[in-house]
Amino acid sequence: MKGVILAGGLGTRLRPLTSVTNKHLLPVYDKPMIYYPIECLLNAGISDILIVTGGEHAGDFLKLLKNGKDLGVRHLAYAYQEGEGGIADALKLAEDFADGEKICVVLGDNIVERNIRRAAGDFFTQRSGAKILLKEVPDPQRFGVVRFEGDGEHKRVAEIIEKPASPPSNCAVIGIYFYDADVFKVCQSLKPSGRGELEITDVNNYYLQRGDLTHEIIDGWWTDAGTFESLYRATDLVARGGANHADQPVKREAAAAH
Ligand code: DAU
Repeated sequence: MKGVILAGGLGTRLRPLTSVTNKHLLPVYDKPMIYYPIECLLNAGISDILIVTGGEHAGDFLKLLKNGKDLGVRHLAYAYQEGEGGIADALKLAEDFADGEKICVVLGDNIVERNIRRAAGDFFTQRSGAKILLKEVPDPQRFGVVRFEGDGEHKRVAEIIEKPASPPSNCAVIGIYFYDADVFKVCQSLKPSGRGELEITDVNNYYLQRGDLTHEIIDGWWTDAGTFESLYRATDLVARGGANHADQPVKREAAAAH
């Protein structure tokens, strides 16, 4: 399975920080933000990675990461997204790289505490379709949110709603997705949403309607880092225990001092 990190977009919610650099190069505690999705994929055993980025500072990714060897990436590729057409628009650029293989897509501003190796293994053996990862959050209206149907054993995902004003649950769809090779046809068929973007939620709803979408609720914390509040929260969470751990995090000295 190959890995795709989506690090395009203009990061307007983080201006003026993003006036002089790309959002994903900003620091989250002791590393640039982009290190976390890279480490997330590496810790899941995925070391053939494409970074999709854009904007004026795209060249700085090459300066920072070079060919990826220092971080342990076996093969690092880059693609350039024109404009800010949405997550599913950025994903279109990964078609040649994927070359018919299954992919794990990670949003460049998402950070998880624990490693996703088990979910990756489960998807590797899934015959076809897609897998999403979920996490209960206190502020679901900021994310793609799941509406469930049924109870107990019969509880199933009925719909995913992007940033609902009245969330039907507190289960957010986190920015780590697994797809089969059909995903590129799905992205090509999408129409822009009200905010003018090709939405990843529409891709996931396509697989759901096809009856080919599985999900897992992740252990440990998860956060995005695309707003001042969430960037601050991400820095604090990482400082307290690091990210992408297989085991319970060990408190770092710097965090323990507070
Ligand atoms: O963080 C998880 C959430 O990410 C999901 O729950 C939502 O369903 C999903 O739509 C997304 O929501 P956001 O509106 O917060 O995504 P945002 O526009 O901040 O983009 C997240 C990352 O995707 C960003 O760090 C880089 C990449 N991206 C985004 C856009 C709009 C691109 O590569 N190209 C783009 O054009």
